[in-house]
Amino acid sequence: MKAPARLRSLIDEGLIDTVVRQLMSGKEAMVFVVRCGDDTRCAKVYKEATQRSFRQAVDYTENRKVKNTRQARAMAKGTRFGRQAQEAAWQSAEVDALHRLAAAGVRVPAPYNFHDGVLLMELVTDVRGDAAPRLNDMGFTPDQARGHHQMLLRQVVRMLCAGIVHGDLSEFNILLGADGPVIIDLPQAVDAAGNNHAERMLLRDVVNLGDFFGRFAPELRDTRYGHEIWDLYRRGVLHPDVTLSGRFELPRGVIDVGSVVREIDDARAEEAARRLRMQ
Ligand SMILES: Nc1ncnc2c1ncn2[C@@H]1O[C@H](COP(=O)(O)OP(=O)(O)O)[C@@H](O)[C@H]1O
Ligand SMILES: [Mg+2]
Repeated sequence: MKAPARLRSLIDEGLIDTVVRQLMSGKEAMVFVVRCGDDTRCAKVYKEATQRSFRQAVDYTENRKVKNTRQARAMAKGTRFGRQAQEAAWQSAEVDALHRLAAAGVRVPAPYNFHDGVLLMELVTDVRGDAAPRLNDMGFTPDQARGHHQMLLRQVVRMLCAGIVHGDLSEFNILLGADGPVIIDLPQAVDAAGNNHAERMLLRDVVNLGDFFGRFAPELRDTRYGHEIWDLYRRGVLHPDVTLSGRFELPRGVIDVGSVVREIDDARAEEAARRLRMQ
């Protein structure tokens, strides 16, 4: 196909030879299959900030590291320079997360390059070598569902051990590659230690996994892996091979007013973001 404008500079730089076709366009990016020498790869082109939606909400970007205080001040003020800095931080967050997760042994596409707002990465493929389907496009037997669910919980644990919470993990952001599930779409990934919403996001990610695989193996819906994992993390005893039971007694009687208020604020912010998205 004719190369889209946003990919031209990568062709000029010799990073891409040809553009094969466009994959499904997601909410916030356009994704292309490209050829680089003998390799077939995947190019993710981020949409302009105005076309994106909820994931740049404050809770995700809270406490993101920026290069310097001038940048931080500009971002807080929302000046043009600030918005540009925020945009760059958003786009490079995904490539940073991919590098960190690949190093930690999490199953993510290998990142190759990040140039001009385009992420070049490994194309996740199925057994025939075609772009892999999303979990959402597949059906599973109860045993397959249990197997994938366990495997993905281990990936969540590994991510958390590397200090990262995905923040938008669901059947839409997991591909079923030839060797099993691969996690994608990480620009909103949050720093587990530095973000006040990390716990809530981890719990949501894990609930999403249980709900999806629970369609095929209903008992998975009644598990409490998220609370169990976060509790181990909080106590400093989480490690990649930790044994999980899926059971967790929520402490009773102690009411943490601060966390209740935070929950209410979060719910309000999410509702506001949802409305924005509907516009
Ligand atoms: N590395 C990859 N290999 C194969 N397909 C991919 C890859 N990355 C993205 N895709 C496809 O592109 C779609 C959108 O990508 P995603 O990273 O989820 O962006 P969005 O923010 O738009 O949801 C995915 O649902 C998937 O079908
Ligand atoms: Mg996605």
